Amino acid sequence: MENSSHNARSLVSCSNLLFLSLILSSNLLTLLVSTNFLSTCSLESPQSLPITTAVEQPPPDCSGKVDLPPEFIAFTSPQKLPFGVNANFDSDEILPPVGSPCTRLQPMLRRYMSYEVNGSCPDDEALAQKLLLGGCEPLPRRRCRPPAPKAYVEPYPLPDSLWSTPSDSSVVWTAYTCKSYSCLINRHTQKSSDDCNDCFDLNWREKHRWTSDKSTDLDFSIDEVLSLKKAPGTIRIGLDIGGGVATFAVRMMQRNITIITTSMNLNGPFNSFIASRGVIPLYISISQRLPFFDNTLDIVHSMHVLSNWIPTTLFHFVIFDIYRVLRPGGLFWLDHFFCVGEELEKVYVPLIESVGFRKVKWGVGRKLDRGLELNEIYLSALLEKPLINSW
Ligand SMILES: *[C@@H]1O[C@H](CO)[C@@H](O)[C@H](O)[C@H]1NC(C)=O
Ligand SMILES: *[C@@H]1O[C@H](CO)[C@@H](O)[C@H](O)[C@H]1NC(C)=O
Repeated sequence: MENSSHNARSLVSCSNLLFLSLILSSNLLTLLVSTNFLSTCSLESPQSLPITTAVEQPPPDCSGKVDLPPEFIAFTSPQKLPFGVNANFDSDEILPPVGSPCTRLQPMLRRYMSYEVNGSCPDDEALAQKLLLGGCEPLPRRRCRPPAPKAYVEPYPLPDSLWSTPSDSSVVWTAYTCKSYSCLINRHTQKSSDDCNDCFDLNWREKHRWTSDKSTDLDFSIDEVLSLKKAPGTIRIGLDIGGGVATFAVRMMQRNITIITTSMNLNGPFNSFIASRGVIPLYISISQRLPFFDNTLDIVHSMHVLSNWIPTTLFHFVIFDIYRVLRPGGLFWLDHFFCVGEELEKVYVPLIESVGFRKVKWGVGRKLDRGLELNEIYLSALLEKPLINSW
């Protein structure tokens, strides 16, 4: 299977298809599929993949009222499965998903989906991100090649890549104010209001995060957190939500722990930078359901992102989703959550407590960076999903 997916010829070879249909289908289905297959098999060849065919038929419910871009309709329309009903899909067609608000963002969607099929995509990262943050998430797929740097430079090898600034030529800079890493590195000296404005300087604050010998009320150290688990080595895989330049994942990799880091590219090439360091970026917003199965991750960390800017109902869903993906005994490290004064006790503590985590560590302190008068408060907590947790 793995090999054949890289080989267009074997994908269309009759024996493989028959084999596939045999393993995928019930007996009755196999009969249907193989009859169907006999009639279509000879049509397919690697040269005639339908990359340039336009939309065949817009779905009736869309074509009338709203005028959606043809490529959008091509992607989102139900598409017949070549071998008929598939038990896994419980259908003979497949419906590629997009965020439901896509169709409410028509002008942006129209621009985003206007491109030449099998050509180069427009250099429109900013537009795509705006669309995505507007709720069109997941974005529709496109049949074009994304812009790439003119003279791409390959990343440093591990472990050097973990703490090196990559080449400027590994990034398409169009969407950002800065056009180089040195500009991003200097940003923290310029009081910019950008997210994570001192993150790109790996010799600045990033260098020391989570590494102190002793935790404080708000700043826990990674080694102390890991040592709190009774069974050593059982924290192996996890997620960092809104993880900036992924220094958390890098620190964890140095302890042989695999962390995936979600990030947007808010006025900076966060995803490219994270990948250049040699850890995995995941381009999803805070709104999206986490793409992990229930009870699978050992740890979820999030610093400075889950805070009172998130509408309370969404926040409630987010915390439950984190709880869902954590395995029993998994850790949720809520790092520097912040809100204003009495909000903490009135809204957030009851909300967090209601989900059913066990409190391992819990620290509260003043947040002073924007001034005492704002009365902002930080909470850092280490929470454990109980081993027995369904009720
Ligand atoms: C698709 O684009 C590639 C690269 O430009 C080109 O080599 C190929 O011939 C195109 N295929 C079709 C079917 O137009
Ligand atoms: C990580 O794994 C490597 C290879 O198994 C091992 O040599 C090394 O000691 C491990 N490092 C830590 C910090 O556990």
